[in-house]
Amino acid sequence: MGLIQWATSPLGQNVPIHIAWFLIWVAVIAGLLFLVVHAIYMRYLAKEKVFVADASAGTTAHLPARIPRHSLTARIFHWVMAASMLTLLVTAFLPKVGVQFDWVAYHWIAGIILTISILFHIVHASFFLDFWSIWPDRTDLQDAWKRTLRFFGKPAGLPRKFAKYPLENKLYHGAVMISGLAVVATGICMMFRVRTFLFPRNPYLFGDMTWGLMYVLHGFAGVGFITLVITHIYFAVRPEKLPITAGMLIGTMSREFYLKEHDPARWTVNPSPNAERGAADGD
Ligand code: HEM
Repeated sequence: MGLIQWATSPLGQNVPIHIAWFLIWVAVIAGLLFLVVHAIYMRYLAKEKVFVADASAGTTAHLPARIPRHSLTARIFHWVMAASMLTLLVTAFLPKVGVQFDWVAYHWIAGIILTISILFHIVHASFFLDFWSIWPDRTDLQDAWKRTLRFFGKPAGLPRKFAKYPLENKLYHGAVMISGLAVVATGICMMFRVRTFLFPRNPYLFGDMTWGLMYVLHGFAGVGFITLVITHIYFAVRPEKLPITAGMLIGTMSREFYLKEHDPARWTVNPSPNAERGAADGD
């Protein structure tokens, strides 16, 4: 049982054409398995999160009751991207599991909306948000090591509180970024294989082997998104994460939650509700 479907081209060459569609179910089961194991771990085994005391005591009186987390622009980006992503998943995979409909036009239009929103996000995050807040730093790696040692019952110091994003969120953002760039780059080329009103169809733009590899990369990154989206939604609805999810709707989180999980020295908050940098970024 191969991971890729092959066919013989008119030139007699063996070429890849798609991923094997059973991978859809592998991705669904992987996502569901992760959330069942994680939920059981959290319910029966996980201990209360503990952090080393930060230096913020006595210096937080100036903080507002609601801490700005995501600007309106970042929130609009997040929800446009979420809507286009769900449309892409539904239009791509329902027909593959037996629900037939004319999916291609809905799919590439949602793909264009995702592409535009990602281009916008790159500019917005590079010039208007705190660009480095979503990339792992040295403290994240040191704390990840401490957390791993403590998980296995080995002696280790307490980790620091998080910056704006914990390491797990940063790694998730990295996985979404890589898969997102893969579906966008291949998807735009694949639009030359179908009829759109944007440019003339040209199925001869690439050879059969290149087209095949492109469909396969699009498919692998696409099924990867099934697992990524399942885990993302699962974390969004977990009770202890609801204040963060609410932040993506209303833009702010409570001062108590901020001080419990975040280190003001690592995530400096700009109290102005309209400030882009303190209230930055939508992941
Ligand atoms: C999460 C995002 C996406 C997922 C899950 C996804 C999934 C898929 C899948 C599974 C296919 C069928 C591939 C095959 O037959 O081997 C497909 C085809 C296609 N996708 Fe996507 N895709 C995504 C994003 C995009 C984007 C961003 C674009 C455009 C910019 C795009 C444009 C296309 C086009 C044009 C086709 C070809 C349709 C055809 O040849 O019949 N997709 N997509």
